[in-house]
Amino acid sequence: MCGIVGYVGNKQVLPILLQGLRDLEYRGYDSAGVAVLDNGKIDRVREVGKVDKLSQKLEGKKLPGTIGVAHTRWATHGGVTEFNAHPHIVDGRMAIVHNGIIENYRELKEKIQDKNYESQTDTEVLAKWIYQNYKGDLVQAVKDALPGIRGTYGLVVMHADHPHQLVAARLGSPLAVGIGENEFYIASDVTPMLPFTKRVTFLDDGEIASINSELKIFNLRNEVISKNITEIDWDQAKAQKGGFENFMLKEIFDQKEVFEDALRGRIDMEEGTAKMGGLNLTEEEMRKVKRIMIIAEGTARHAGLIGKYAFERLANIPTEVDFSSEFRYRDPIVNKDTLVFVISQSGETADTLMAAREAKRKGGQVRGIVNVVGSTIARETGAGTYIHAGPELAVASTKAYTNMTAVLLLYALQFGRLKHTSLATGQRMLQSLLEISEKMNEILKQNEEIKKIANIYKDYKNILFIGRGVNYPVALEGALKLEEISYIHAEGLAGGALKHGPLALVSKDVPVVAILTKNQLYEKMKSSIQEVRARGARTLIIATQGDEEAKEVADEIIYLPKTMELLEPLLNTIPLQLFAYHVSVALGRDVDRPRNLAKSVTVE
Ligand code: F6R
Repeated sequence: MCGIVGYVGNKQVLPILLQGLRDLEYRGYDSAGVAVLDNGKIDRVREVGKVDKLSQKLEGKKLPGTIGVAHTRWATHGGVTEFNAHPHIVDGRMAIVHNGIIENYRELKEKIQDKNYESQTDTEVLAKWIYQNYKGDLVQAVKDALPGIRGTYGLVVMHADHPHQLVAARLGSPLAVGIGENEFYIASDVTPMLPFTKRVTFLDDGEIASINSELKIFNLRNEVISKNITEIDWDQAKAQKGGFENFMLKEIFDQKEVFEDALRGRIDMEEGTAKMGGLNLTEEEMRKVKRIMIIAEGTARHAGLIGKYAFERLANIPTEVDFSSEFRYRDPIVNKDTLVFVISQSGETADTLMAAREAKRKGGQVRGIVNVVGSTIARETGAGTYIHAGPELAVASTKAYTNMTAVLLLYALQFGRLKHTSLATGQRMLQSLLEISEKMNEILKQNEEIKKIANIYKDYKNILFIGRGVNYPVALEGALKLEEISYIHAEGLAGGALKHGPLALVSKDVPVVAILTKNQLYEKMKSSIQEVRARGARTLIIATQGDEEAKEVADEIIYLPKTMELLEPLLNTIPLQLFAYHVSVALGRDVDRPRNLAKSVTVE
């Protein structure tokens, strides 16, 4: 969490920093601050709250200068106050921005001579520690300070004696450096630099960057490292709101297009299979996979649960899905016959990254399914697949979930075709996949209708979501979407599990959203809905076009186009995303930046 931006070059830095902070605000928005160096003097402005508040505070203030650092904070150590906001400055001479947690800050405090602290943060301790190590060479100061630090960091420092230099270091928190014409950008992800350059390099753990007229990267043994430059092909327009009220709505609507990007080049219609390049396994090795484990958190885990249905049905491979945070603290049984997929939109989720490392250590074949190009999980897993959802900036994940699901379905088909899935089934599935984006479009056209329905449900305090089979993860995802952005308590349940406890919650005050599309569990699902209606619950039903019978159990109904059962989650989740969105807007919530959350959770 926390977003870092830095710039050194010829342009006025303040507008670059402010826009960069806006781009990174999804990473945290408890407070924000900028520091600009000009004429040997560092000027700093910080403010509690979102970047807009900082921007208002800066109105009328002149912070000229062509080098600076900025930060948007998601609080870990110390409350949400201006004193705790970054950048932190030592002695008026050195500014630092930091993302991560310094675990041994108490020990460091003992070693630091300057005992005057303005904040309660570990970052200020880190700043003073680096400053104490400074003897005229800023890179050397960072190099000398780092061995004394335990914890995680992505940090950038700037010193009044070095008017054209930024020094950055990374251990556990991401940093990308954008390379322009006689100018450099540094940020927690590439979005702030995309309007200016597409040429980017990513710092790896244990690396230190000296950025002035040239970029030099060292490891902790002080060796200069030559790094690959990645050309980022994300269209900047895709990272903008494009006329939508906010990012979440835009990203929901993006799905029809980016879904096609997830399929592009991965379909072999003639053979009725998928061509997923990222496995690095021969067909023989693929046939030998005995078990699949899927590790992820939140929405990514829900996509993983859909993957489980697909791998078991199409490929007959036992598949387990785990929370990354649980996986790493159990004693998971992983061996060379286990294929482990780690799924992450950001590619930076600390729990998922640690779980991937643990799975690797145990001898599993670990593959990433990731959105952010060049992110840590993508690089560390080495092999795997990008989901091509483009920049997802709203905290609530929507299009990434859809594309993760698409990639898992393609993998399942590829494994299935090497085993018992027939050519005809493979071709039918691929044909259905190719028809999905048009069907998504049909659903999105019902946006206004769904908004009206959302208004009916917005004042309930508790809402249950139920689904069965492949729609059980859809119910989980519908509930998560609603609660994270509306703050209404919501729970996703397997329809069949209702009568084993949760049915006791149901009353006229607890409505139920049920997924009742036409599949093999239709009748069973209908019985579950009847159970809740008998207890007075209002019901919103997601049904298949033409199913008149579904109206019997519905107070409100949303009809969706028919598709193959395994593919249903790709469609059935969309009305639930729109439902959550409109409930939240009706309640006046900040949809893109819900309270207490951040887009990329880089702390445990
Ligand atoms: C919910 C949401 C989170 C993330 C989870 C994992 O809308 O976005 O539940 O899915 O924090 O994040 P990634 O996919 O970046 O690893």
